[in-house]
Amino acid sequence: MGTEMFRLDGKVAWITGGTKGLGLQMAHALAGVGANVAINSRNAAEAESAAQAIREKHGVRTYGGGADVTSADEVARLVASVSAALGPVDILVNNAGINIRKPTVDQTDEDWQRVLNTNLTGPFLCSRAVLPGMVQRRWGRVIHLSSMLGLVGLAGRPSYSATKGALVLLAKTQALEVAHAGVTVNAICPGPFGTEMNKPLLEDPKKYADFVSRIPLGRWGEMSEIDGVVVFLASPASSFVTGTTLVVDGGWTAQ
Ligand SMILES: NC(=O)c1ccc[n+]([C@@H]2O[C@H](COP(=O)([O-])OP(=O)(O)OC[C@H]3O[C@@H](n4cnc5c(N)ncnc54)[C@H](OP(=O)(O)O)[C@@H]3O)[C@@H](O)[C@H]2O)c1
Repeated sequence: MGTEMFRLDGKVAWITGGTKGLGLQMAHALAGVGANVAINSRNAAEAESAAQAIREKHGVRTYGGGADVTSADEVARLVASVSAALGPVDILVNNAGINIRKPTVDQTDEDWQRVLNTNLTGPFLCSRAVLPGMVQRRWGRVIHLSSMLGLVGLAGRPSYSATKGALVLLAKTQALEVAHAGVTVNAICPGPFGTEMNKPLLEDPKKYADFVSRIPLGRWGEMSEIDGVVVFLASPASSFVTGTTLVVDGGWTAQ
């Protein structure tokens, strides 16, 4: 196999939270290797316009719609709309996520629950909605966006780290459940990238520099440095890779 092992022509890839940040970046990357792309966020208008931009740039079919990943009903409706528009989902990238940076003693019940619902229940609901179809068709890829903070701790991120660590084990467990059908489930563990989620760090020179000083490669990730990672895990190139994590953190967790 040559570079065609990285092609996804005709496959349907659904990226949750694909309207901005890493989700939008990965949606473009998957469209760039031929996938038809569905994206959702809680903002339907943003999802539609991002889908349109991807369609115009890459010439693939796209769907954009509003759906909150914390709602099983909204997830079910979205999956039905994506299937009607593009066909059944072959690749799910569970990317939608939030972070509330407060130490345990300051996290309210609501903070804790919001992070768990979005970062952990969301990926559970979305993968539960599409795995049966993947198993039936005997091809599929589920990719959970964990984090370097799913592998190592950082003070002030109790809910975030707990959910990201849980996604690593969700990936392993689901991988075992669907391996018999050739469906793979993996997690990506990124280090810091310059997205809206990281605004509080990007806008604080001291915090930004502190992060840089802890990254062996000496810098934050460039947005395009997620592309090869998601394309690899989504494509035939990774057909024997399942139940594992691909860390893209400039070496943070190597220490
Ligand atoms: N950026 C990093 O450095 C980094 C590092 C490690 C891991 N990650 C992980 O990578 C993923 C993407 O991060 P990012 O930095 O790109 O985030 P971001 O720029 O804040 O984008 C998050 C996306 O998720 C959507 N979203 C949030 N809550 C949602 C919900 N309940 N239902 C549907 N969509 C929802 C947002 O849209 P709406 O708000 O309009 O719904 C947006 O499209 C996250 O899981 C994050 O934890 C990021």
